[in-house]
Amino acid sequence: MIATEQQNLTAEIAELAGRHGRDRGALMPILQALQERHHQISEFAMQEVAALLDVHPVEVYSVVTFYAFLKAGKEGKFVIRLCRTISCDMREKDKVARQMENELGISFGQTTADGMFTLEWANCLGMCDQGPAMLVNDQVFTAVTFEKVHDVLEGCRRSFSVHPAPKGGH
Ligand code: FES
Repeated sequence: MIATEQQNLTAEIAELAGRHGRDRGALMPILQALQERHHQISEFAMQEVAALLDVHPVEVYSVVTFYAFLKAGKEGKFVIRLCRTISCDMREKDKVARQMENELGISFGQTTADGMFTLEWANCLGMCDQGPAMLVNDQVFTAVTFEKVHDVLEGCRRSFSVHPAPKGGH
C-alpha cells in the first residue's frame, strides 16, 4: 500500500472514530464501515484501528477473523499471521517464516490450493517480549521456533478434521 493510500485510510479511520467513538465499543461499527467501503480490511487498517481505539491488536485481528463477513481478503480456514516487527524480527522470525513456507509450499500473502492455510505478515501484536509471536485465527502463539512450526500446522489439521467448518462457513 502506498503512503498516500495509508494516509487516506488513517484519516478515514479517524473520521469513523469521531463518529462512533474511540473506545472498544466502536470496534465493530468501524470495522463494518471499513468492510462496506473497501470490501476488505487490510492489515494496515487493523493496526490503525487498534492504535486509535487503544485496544490490543490481537483483539482486532480476532474480531476480523471471527466474523466471517469481515474479510481480510481471500483466506484459508486457518489464517496464520506472523509478526515481522523489530523484536520478533531479531528473534529469528525469518527462520520461522521459511519453515512455514517450506511446509505449506506457499509464500506469504498466499493461500494453499486446498484452502486450508493462508500465510500473512502482521505488524506488532503486542507480545514483543515473547517473540517471535504469531496468530493462528484468534489463537496467539509466542516464542515460536522453526522446530515448532510442524506441530502447530499439524494441530490445525487435526482440529479441522475433528471440527470441520460448517458448509459455506468461513
Ligand atoms: S514486535 Fe512482534 S509482537 Fe511486538
